[in-house]
Amino acid sequence: MPNPPYAAASASHSLRSCIRVFVLPFFALAVSAAQQPPAAAISDVEVNQRVESLLKQMTLQEKIGQLTQIGPSPIGPENLQPEDLIRKGEAGSVLWTIDSAQIKRMQEIAVNDSRLKIPLLFGFDVIHGYKNVFPVPIGMASSWDPAMVEKSQAMAAHEASVSGINWTFGPMVDIARDARWGRIVEGAGEDPYLGAAMARAQVLGFQGTRLGTPNRVLGSVKHFAGYGAAEGGRDYDACYIPEVLFRNVYLRPFAAAIDAGVGTVMSAYMDLNDVPASGNRWLLQDVLRRDLGFRGFVISDAWSVASLTAHGYARDPEDAAYRGLAAGVNMDMGSETYLKNAAKLVESGKLPVAVVDRMVREVLAIKVRMGLFENPYGDLADKDKILNDPEHRAATRVAAQRSIVLLRNEHGALPLKKTLGSIALIGPIADSTEEIKGSWTVEAGAAISVLEGLHNKLPNARIEFARGGDMQRLFPLPWDALEGKKATPLMPEAEMKKEVEQAVKAAKRADTVVLVLGERAFMSGEAASRASLALPGNQQQLLEAVVATGKPVVLVLLNGRPLDIAWAAEHVPAILEAWYPGTEGGNAIADVLFGDVNPGAKLPVSWPRTTGQVPTYYNHNLTQAPEDDPTFTSRYADFVTAPLYPFGYGLSYTTFGFSNLELDQKSISVSDTLHVSVDVENDGSVAGDEVVQLYIHQRAGSASRPVRELKGFQRIALAPGEKKTVQFSVGKEELKFWSPQARTWVVEPEEFDVWVGGDSKASLHAEFKVNQ
Ligand code: NOJ
Repeated sequence: MPNPPYAAASASHSLRSCIRVFVLPFFALAVSAAQQPPAAAISDVEVNQRVESLLKQMTLQEKIGQLTQIGPSPIGPENLQPEDLIRKGEAGSVLWTIDSAQIKRMQEIAVNDSRLKIPLLFGFDVIHGYKNVFPVPIGMASSWDPAMVEKSQAMAAHEASVSGINWTFGPMVDIARDARWGRIVEGAGEDPYLGAAMARAQVLGFQGTRLGTPNRVLGSVKHFAGYGAAEGGRDYDACYIPEVLFRNVYLRPFAAAIDAGVGTVMSAYMDLNDVPASGNRWLLQDVLRRDLGFRGFVISDAWSVASLTAHGYARDPEDAAYRGLAAGVNMDMGSETYLKNAAKLVESGKLPVAVVDRMVREVLAIKVRMGLFENPYGDLADKDKILNDPEHRAATRVAAQRSIVLLRNEHGALPLKKTLGSIALIGPIADSTEEIKGSWTVEAGAAISVLEGLHNKLPNARIEFARGGDMQRLFPLPWDALEGKKATPLMPEAEMKKEVEQAVKAAKRADTVVLVLGERAFMSGEAASRASLALPGNQQQLLEAVVATGKPVVLVLLNGRPLDIAWAAEHVPAILEAWYPGTEGGNAIADVLFGDVNPGAKLPVSWPRTTGQVPTYYNHNLTQAPEDDPTFTSRYADFVTAPLYPFGYGLSYTTFGFSNLELDQKSISVSDTLHVSVDVENDGSVAGDEVVQLYIHQRAGSASRPVRELKGFQRIALAPGEKKTVQFSVGKEELKFWSPQARTWVVEPEEFDVWVGGDSKASLHAEFKVNQ
């Protein structure tokens, strides 16, 4: 079956629009990887011939080898040596080996010494950069700039490929509606349309327009599927997702990634409606291959086939191997479950060899398409040059600038004046060159801290730094715990009190305070869910004490998830959400603080006021009790329902006016396309970017439809006084949804609302009708 067209159209539409309207200086910096001409395509016929010819020569154990991804260390009680396994053809891929010399040695063994000379895939998590680190994915999504995201991931791919890595485990496209879930930092937020655009951009960045594009790597879209719906926001927890939500929301970014040609899909860890994703036949066959048309191969998440036993699903490792293979997991990540059990399954007649053959074909086809047999090593000689390419570093700064969201700015508190004589920089990670990079940055060089960024911006100002206390995880990361490491204890209370006093003194001595609060990098990401969105450690006390000095305070957040900043949102005049902005983070923050860059990013998530509001998302259904109506407060009796900041929200140092919302037709047929245009004017006095967003709502139909759904966006740059007309198309791809009653995709002849504006609360409204 072909790919569902909705994702393709929606994602490519936004991508096209962004490219058309907005040409960034960034493009000039960022094209080195993108300009490489793609290698000649290999025809399907040739791929099949080469795969079949190899398959014919393979022993059963060599076939199972291609379905096994080993780690770099010896395996199991038998102490199986990775290099021996490679030599025997019993490994198809190596996980998390990043030493280029070791990669080369292993690849040489595979292509010179193994019987069939099949090259290895070297898989690593290149999530938001390699040596040069871009903002974390939730930050990149805040840019609402898929073209920039694509260029950034192309650079990351280039850095990885010259290091010997030929496969990244990204993009992570899990929709997250619950900010407690730690991995919200790794995705594009809560929205399927924005998520699809980011998914597509990242796949194109990592892989190019097709496998085999020089200087790119194989991508792996993850975690298939629904992982972000973990109950209680607890990592790895079971997900219960009704099919209507699964298809309309959770699957859409995956469909976009598949449409963009992603070569591999990673099956998730958790139970999906009581069937673990890595042993879920319906998910991996019916949905992935039949409905989404995926043609590459499936890699399990690490040990997720082995852990089918832990779920109480498989009886023992042999049964786990059977269930993984029978469901459609081609490659077993980092475990020996297939290696040790698959042959027994075939020899006992339980698993037809035809199943193994199909799995192997899919793996080999990807290796052939990548051109891995012709060029197994990557351009290792270029490593130093590419990793130290100043253009890459400059691109991380631009990406960070474009990802910073201005959440509050009362009475023009920002930008700060460069004439400031003294600044108190306060916060436990404000001087850190590590935390500012976020998670998944193993190979990264040191980053610019906020402290350094301020010094660079104002070399003559007096900048006094005070930590003001501490924050830590209560429990260590599980992999640290496995090595016997304990969590770093929180600074004793008395010491934190003293630190707050010092911070207050520093604040009193300064003209202005830049307060940097948030989370350490390892407080979000995998195994980093939190039961509370409160500022961790003593940061709330620190915040209140610093604000009590009466000094002008600017709050900068470094964090991987929305936090409870309701107090700050009332008492601090200026708030910047910087996420973890990466290598050039401190410089980019200073650029925004002092007005060299006007922030234009927008939230890719609704920002809850308090933990109890989660899950919070804008595209919920209507109920009898309106969300914003103060007279109808039945949804919570003790709290407002609306989030602190809506999805799509973000301020600028200028203001924008929207007018002349025009539809080229009042009614269209189900197969027609409506053209929507709107005038956007910069009515302030500085240049700035606006993300023009289009939302629709279907008023009635075979199912209740969300109150609003994003169906188009364009980030545009406007000089002061400049006006642009922005165009959107709304056709069947935007109008269709999976109907739980029809049990298929439908476009219904109904009345629709359309809004255009600068966030999901946009008020400029029109209506149209869809006829049969
Ligand atoms: C587990 C994580 O869930 C996944 O995202 C990652 O790609 C693999 N480990 C490999 O590092």
